[in-house]
Amino acid sequence: MTNGTPTSPAVDNQPDLGDEALAQRVTDGLNRVEGLMFERLNQGADFLSEQITHLVKAGGKRFRPLMAVLASEFGPNPQADNVIRGAAIVELVHLATLYHDDVMDEAAKRRGVESANSRWTNTVAILSGDYLLAEASRLMSEIDTATVRHFAETFSDLVTGQMRETVGARGGDPVEHYLEVIREKTGALIASAAYLGATHSGADEATVRTIKELGEAIGMVFQIVDDIIDIFSDSAQSGKTPGTDLREGVFTLPVLYALQDEGEAGEELRGLLTGPLTEDADVERALTLIGQTDGRKRALDDVHRYLSIVDARLNDLPGIPANDAMRQIARYTVDRVG
Ligand code: IPE
Ligand code: IPE
Ligand code: MG
Ligand code: MG
Repeated sequence: MTNGTPTSPAVDNQPDLGDEALAQRVTDGLNRVEGLMFERLNQGADFLSEQITHLVKAGGKRFRPLMAVLASEFGPNPQADNVIRGAAIVELVHLATLYHDDVMDEAAKRRGVESANSRWTNTVAILSGDYLLAEASRLMSEIDTATVRHFAETFSDLVTGQMRETVGARGGDPVEHYLEVIREKTGALIASAAYLGATHSGADEATVRTIKELGEAIGMVFQIVDDIIDIFSDSAQSGKTPGTDLREGVFTLPVLYALQDEGEAGEELRGLLTGPLTEDADVERALTLIGQTDGRKRALDDVHRYLSIVDARLNDLPGIPANDAMRQIARYTVDRVG
């Protein structure tokens, strides 16, 4: 590694992976991913470098690169160059979706700093996201066409999920709708991280399939937990503004369950949540009411249902140190809700 290679923020905040040699390999891999992302993002025109590096510099968990690097342990060539490229691709695509998501959600904060749309304008945020996608595509082209095809599928899932969220349940079951949305908008990309890591380390087909399913289940856990945090935590914990989804009229799992509450809280909530909430006082009131229902508990029950899928898939895989580490990561994801 060359001097001056940035350290991945995931390295400092890494959950205990249980095995020292593994932890060292993962640290090396994550730092290589970091170096590769910055190398590519620093090659753009001078008038866009600040904008396109804004969020990557702000921090973030680097959860998807971590998934890719851990998944690569299940093949004969962990951290092959294409594994590192794959990990950088998923983080760049993730970053691009964050730029775009904050425009769609009119979010003011991201990763503890001003969102790009808020710091600059929607136009700048959209174009910056597009630039990250361009660099991600360049990296895909350096791997192979199968990876490009894989990303076409992943990306169409991401966009379909986002569009499904935007159009709403349209008379269908709102919980089923929500679960489909998050499978597409979040599960698909974490599954992709796992898939790329395993594939490009040369893992066999059955292993790759299992790891991809595992990634999707972790993705479901991850998004439900994130949605619980959006309702029940302050911005010091999440680096985002709580209640953003409610303001946009996007009702996530704890809210959907809260709306089913048969007591007074449910009744008042159903009166309040007929569309986007524009007044701060209404958001506050809604957050309080949701807290009086079993919405959080029922959402957490679903989290545990997906965690048991994660466990089952891990039981199908060899018991190498990365297997325990994946279990740790799944638990750590849930621990974020306390
Ligand atoms: C945020 O993802 C969007 C979701 C899918 C919940 P992360 O929680 O991984 O965001 P960063 O990368 O740590 O900022
Ligand atoms: C998460 O959407 C998926 C993407 C960012 C594409 P959210 O709108 O729930 O994510 P946050 O809460 O803003 O991170
Ligand atoms: Mg958002
Ligand atoms: Mg959103």
